[in-house]
Amino acid sequence: MLYYEFSKEKGRFMPRDAKTKQYIYIVQALLEPTSCKIGITNDLERRLKEYNNITGKSKGNKSRYLFTCEVKDMAEVENAVKDTFSALREEKSREIYFYNAKLFEGYVKFIKSHKMFVREIYIKTDETKPIVKIVKKTTPTLEERGISSKDVLQKAQKRKNDEFYTRLEDIEKELSMYSKKVWKNKTVFCNCDDAVGDGEKDTSAFALYFLQNFKELGLKKFICTHFGDNGDLFNQGTKGYVFTKDGFHEFKDYPKGYTGSFDDPLSLKILKEEADIVCTNPPFSMAKDYWEITVNSGKKFIIISNITNPITPAFIPYFKDNKVWAGYNRIDYYLNPKRELVEASGHWYTNIPLKNRPKYEHLKIIPLKDIPAKYKYYDDAKTLVVDNCFIPDDYKKPFAISARPILNGILEKGFKIIQETQYFPYKKGVKKFGRVLIQKE
Ligand SMILES: C[S@@+](CC[C@H](N)C(=O)[O-])C[C@H]1O[C@@H](n2cnc3c(N)ncnc32)[C@H](O)[C@@H]1O
Repeated sequence: MLYYEFSKEKGRFMPRDAKTKQYIYIVQALLEPTSCKIGITNDLERRLKEYNNITGKSKGNKSRYLFTCEVKDMAEVENAVKDTFSALREEKSREIYFYNAKLFEGYVKFIKSHKMFVREIYIKTDETKPIVKIVKKTTPTLEERGISSKDVLQKAQKRKNDEFYTRLEDIEKELSMYSKKVWKNKTVFCNCDDAVGDGEKDTSAFALYFLQNFKELGLKKFICTHFGDNGDLFNQGTKGYVFTKDGFHEFKDYPKGYTGSFDDPLSLKILKEEADIVCTNPPFSMAKDYWEITVNSGKKFIIISNITNPITPAFIPYFKDNKVWAGYNRIDYYLNPKRELVEASGHWYTNIPLKNRPKYEHLKIIPLKDIPAKYKYYDDAKTLVVDNCFIPDDYKKPFAISARPILNGILEKGFKIIQETQYFPYKKGVKKFGRVLIQKE
């Protein structure tokens, strides 16, 4: 049935539906910075009042619009939002969406590009800042965890070298190289301090990448944990989230003493029972332990580690046994906790087959006699040493190379590492930097 109402705007009776404007909005309560609500209404002002009647009861927890716009068919846009961002909706309430500045940009971009979008509406809201920030106490005390403050100090010292955060652009550059099939219906586990908070400072770019691309990659599940050890730089305490197409929930019922460490029993259980692919930048100071657990888990992985791993004793066996190989890219810049750019040489490593490694082009596999003299020599032990990615294709004996040819894929070109230890050439008694010995198969 069609109802008619007098429209002051038009000066005549109009069908009610034709007169009523339709809006979609994103609203947030000041004290709930990691969530927002996306909804529809015919009356933005009234809806905000309704929200404030609920959340505004608690002092300082006012709701405000982050984005509002007029649309032609609000139900259609809302359904499209629900469908596209299904993993970012809270599993139980279904009303709450995960909020983070970057995810918010994604919501807005999606709505604005919808065919039913009419125009953005700016509403000036009361910008009262929250007086207190409520931080959920999820981190157990030192006593509860059975450690002393001295342990914490020692750890803090060690951690200094671990606080390098990966940039989103480096993650995008690497992960976009893998076939979509790699991710389809898979559970991805980010297990080294990969939390998502409301802003860039407390967000791991790994978590952000998988949240932004959840649907596009066709993921089944995404699990991320935040390492909540004392001195925790994301400052969120131990946390873990599970995202599926039916929504997300925070880990419930953490076992006593759970720190979010990759080797904690709960993290190991997730790794063993749920994860298909592990993806993160683990702490440099614990790379040896991390590799041992991850490589031996039998799961697929794409991780970041030091660029010299192929010639570092603890890691050479993985390359020798073909359990790990270099990913596509190196990484030269990270962010420190203040989000300043810092330089450090890392590389991606994986056990997922690569297609057409572009860096094969850097390998110069040619007869020994054609290798320029300045890039080849025999050391004091008469072992051939080659540099600058030159590789002799007609040399039958073992010869020494640096990490670079391995990162460029030489082990996929019919050569194998023949010794698990580092090889140090001596030239006229002078020790040169460490290498590995390889040989044509
Ligand atoms: C190189 S940072 C990378 C952080 C984040 N994954 C990223 O890529 O931006 C390594 C992180 O691992 C955390 N960490 C240290 N020990 C850990 C452990 N045992 N388990 C999990 N994370 C740990 C450090 O606090 C640090 O934040």
